[in-house]
Amino acid sequence: MRLPCLVSAAIVLAPASSALADGDAVAGAVVFKKCGACHTATAPDNRVGPSLIDIVGRPVASAPNYIYSPAMKAFGADGKVWDETLLRTYLPAPQSLVKGTRMTFPGLKSDRDLDNLIAYLKNPAAAQ
Ligand code: HEC
Repeated sequence: MRLPCLVSAAIVLAPASSALADGDAVAGAVVFKKCGACHTATAPDNRVGPSLIDIVGRPVASAPNYIYSPAMKAFGADGKVWDETLLRTYLPAPQSLVKGTRMTFPGLKSDRDLDNLIAYLKNPAAAQ
C-alpha cells in the first residue's frame, strides 16, 4: 500500500521543482487576473494602483503621475528597486513588508504562481 503513495508524491514534486526554475508567462497572465482589477502591466496607465509596466527592475514608487501612500514612498526612499527578490518578499504579504501600504491585497502565497506571475511581468507580450 505504501508504494503507490511514494510514486504519486514523486510525480507531484517533479513539475513543481522545474516550475521554480522557470516561470510560464501564459500561466502568469492568468495569475495576473488577481491584480488586474487595480493594475495593468501592458500600458503606462495608473488605475487604483500604479501601472506595472516594466515593474521588474523598476525603482519603488516611481510610476509617473501616481500618488503613492506615504508608506510606499518611505519604503522606496533609499532607492530600492523591484527586483525579483523584493517582489517575492512583497507579494505574499504586502502589508507585512510595507506597513501602511494602500495595496489592499491579501497576498499571493503559492511559489508556483509567483514564478509564473514574474515571468509574465517581465514579458507580458509572451502571453499574447
Ligand atoms: C485592490 C487593488 C490592488 C490589487 C488587487 C493589487 N494591487 Fe498592487 N497596488 C495597489 C495600490 C493601491 C498600490 C499603491 C500602494 C501604495 O502607494 O501604498 C499598489 C502597488 C503595487 C506595487 C508597487 C508599485 C510601485 O510602483 O512601486 C507592486 C509591485 C504591485 N502593487 C503589484 C501587484 C501585483 C503583482 C498584484 C497581484 C498579485 C497586485 N499588486 C494586486 C492596489 C492593488
